[in-house]
Amino acid sequence: MDKTVQDALNRQINKELFAAYLYLSMCAHFESRSLTGFARWMRAQAREELNHAMRIFDHLNERGATVELAALDQPAREFGSPVEVFEEALDHEKAVTQMIHKLYDLAEEKHDHASQLLLEWFITEQVEEEDSVGTVVDQLRMAGDNQAAILMLDRELGSRQEGGA
Ligand code: FEO
Repeated sequence: MDKTVQDALNRQINKELFAAYLYLSMCAHFESRSLTGFARWMRAQAREELNHAMRIFDHLNERGATVELAALDQPAREFGSPVEVFEEALDHEKAVTQMIHKLYDLAEEKHDHASQLLLEWFITEQVEEEDSVGTVVDQLRMAGDNQAAILMLDRELGSRQEGGA
C-alpha cells in the first residue's frame, strides 16, 4: 500500500477512536445529570466509532499494511446544555466527513481502489451520521427551555440500541 495512504488511514483510526472518546465524555456528562437517555445514545455512538476504527484497522491488516496506533487527545470534560452538546457532536461529524472526503481523494490519486471502496462505505455512513445527529439538534432546538419536552426526548433517545455500524 502507498505509504501516504497508509499513514492517512492510520491517522483516521486515531480520529475515529478520539470520536469514541469524545462521545464517551459526553455520555459521562449526561449520566452525571441523570439524562440517561441521552447518555445511552452517546454510549451507542461511541461504540459505533470504535467499530469505524476497527474497519480501518482490519483493512490495513488485510492489505498487509502496518497499523500504527498513536496517543489519543484528551476530550473535553465540560459541556453545555443538551442542545449545545449535540451541536458540538454535529460539528464533529461534519469535520469527520471532510476528513473522509480528503482521504477518498488521496486514495483515488494513488489509484488505491480497495481503499476507495472502504472509504465509500464511510462516505455513506457520514451522511447517515450527520442526519441522525442533525435530527436530534433540530428536535432539541424545538424543545427550547421546555424541560418536559427535553425529558421526553431523553426518553425517546434512550431507546437507541447498541451494535449499529
Ligand atoms: Fe466515525 Fe461518527 O464518524
